[in-house]
Amino acid sequence: MFQKEVYLQRRAALKSKVNSGILLFMGNEDSPMNYKDNAYHFRQDSTFLYYFGINEPSLGAIIDLDADKTILFGNEMGIDDIVWMGRQKTLKEKSIDAGLTEVQPLDKLDDYLQKAVEKKQQVHFLPPYRAENKIKLSHWLNIPIAQLKEKASLTFIKAVVAQRSIKGAEEIVELNRAAALSADIHLMVMQQARPGMYERELAAKIEGAALATGGNIAYPVILTVRGEILHNHYHGNQLLDGQMVLNDSGVETALGYAGDLTRTFPVGKKFTAEQKDIYDVVLKAYTDAKNMLAPGVRYLDVHLTSCKTLAQGLKDIGLMKGNVDDAVAAGAHAMFFQCGTGHMMGLDVHDMEDLGEQYVGYTDDLLKNTTQFGLKSLRLGKALETGYVLTVEPGVYIIPELIDRWKAENQFSEYINYDKLEQFRHFSGIRVEDDFLITETGSTMLGKHLAITTDEVEAVRAEAY
Ligand code: GLY
Repeated sequence: MFQKEVYLQRRAALKSKVNSGILLFMGNEDSPMNYKDNAYHFRQDSTFLYYFGINEPSLGAIIDLDADKTILFGNEMGIDDIVWMGRQKTLKEKSIDAGLTEVQPLDKLDDYLQKAVEKKQQVHFLPPYRAENKIKLSHWLNIPIAQLKEKASLTFIKAVVAQRSIKGAEEIVELNRAAALSADIHLMVMQQARPGMYERELAAKIEGAALATGGNIAYPVILTVRGEILHNHYHGNQLLDGQMVLNDSGVETALGYAGDLTRTFPVGKKFTAEQKDIYDVVLKAYTDAKNMLAPGVRYLDVHLTSCKTLAQGLKDIGLMKGNVDDAVAAGAHAMFFQCGTGHMMGLDVHDMEDLGEQYVGYTDDLLKNTTQFGLKSLRLGKALETGYVLTVEPGVYIIPELIDRWKAENQFSEYINYDKLEQFRHFSGIRVEDDFLITETGSTMLGKHLAITTDEVEAVRAEAY
C-alpha cells in the first residue's frame, strides 16, 4: 500500500466533488476456478484499490457524505482462516494503514444500505462488471440486474474518472516501474526466442518473469507469430525462420499498476525486406503519434495522424492508392489498422474501462458514437491533460478474411490495391507500443528504452543464438 495520507487525500478530493448521498465501493470476491477453495489469482477492484488500497477479497466500503462517515466493511479472519491461510495483518490494522477509523462486519453493509434505501438517501454506485457484485447490488438496492448499468451514478463515475485520470506522483513511480520491468522482460524474450521454439515457451517465460518481479502480468500475454490477430491468446504455433513474433505483454506491479508494451521481431536474425518496409511504416506512425503528445491535443487527432502516416507508407509500398486524407476519412486504412492508436493506462491496462469508454476517453462535446470500422475501436479521443498516462500503439495487420470480405463487397477499391495485397495475404502483423506520461510541455516515455528500430531489433537478434 501507499502511505495512508495518499488514501486520505484521494478520498477527501472525491468527497469534495459529490454533494450528498452515499458513495458505495465494491471490493471484488475471490473467483473460483472449479470449486470455492480453488480460486483464480485474486484481483481487487481498481477503484477500491485506488481509494482504500486493501488488496483482499470480500470487502466493501462507503463514504456517507450526509453523515460525514467513511466505513470499511469486512470480516476479520477466524481461526479456520488462520489455520489454512496463516496469520496476516488484521483487517483493523489494514484499515489503519488506509487511514480509516471505522470497520464493521460485512453483513452490516447490507443493513446500512437497506436503511439508506428506506430513507430515500441516494446510493451512488459504479457500473458493476463482476457477477457477484451485480447480484449483491441488485439485492441491496432492489434494482434488476439488467438495469444496474444505466442506474449507476453518473456523478460518481465522472468524479472517479476525473480523479483517476490525472496520475499522482506516487502512481507515476509505479507506472514507470511497471513499464521498465515490462521492457526488461521484452528484451529477455527478444534475446531468447529461437526458431523451432513454440510460442507457449516464450509466453511462459513472460508469465514467470512477471511473477518474479513481485507483481503479475497486467493482462493475458499476446505472444504470437499470427500478429494480425489483435488479441491472440493462442500459444501453440512453432516459431519458423522467416516469421515475426509479436509480443504484447506487460507487468502489473504489486500495487496494481500496469505496463503495456509491444515489440515485433524476426524469428530469425533479420527481417525480410518486405517485413522491414512495413515495420518502418508502423514505426513512423508511432513516431508521428508520440511527437504530437501534449496537453490540449485531442488523442483523436493523434490517432488520425498515425492513420494517415500508415496510409501514406502503405501507398508508397503500393498497398494503398489515391488521396491519403480521403482514404482515412472514408476508413479505407482500416483494412490494415482495425483498432485505435492507444488508450489510457493506470491501475487497469485499459484504465477505467469498467466505468465506460465515453466518460474515460471522450467528452460531452466529443461523443463516442461513430460506427466506422476502425474508429469505433478508438478508446481515447479527447484532449490530453498533464498527468494522463496512455499508450501509443499503431500497427499493420493483414487479415486474410477481411481481404476476402472487402474484396467481394468491392469496398474501397479506389484506395486499396487488392492485387498487390494478395501478395501480402500471409504477412501477419506488426505493432510497436510504448507508454507515455503527458507532461506540461509534451510527454515523456515511461520505463526505459527498448530496441525499437529495425537496426536495434536486429542487433538484439544477432546476439540471440
Ligand atoms: N495490450 C493489450 C491491449 O491494449 O488491448
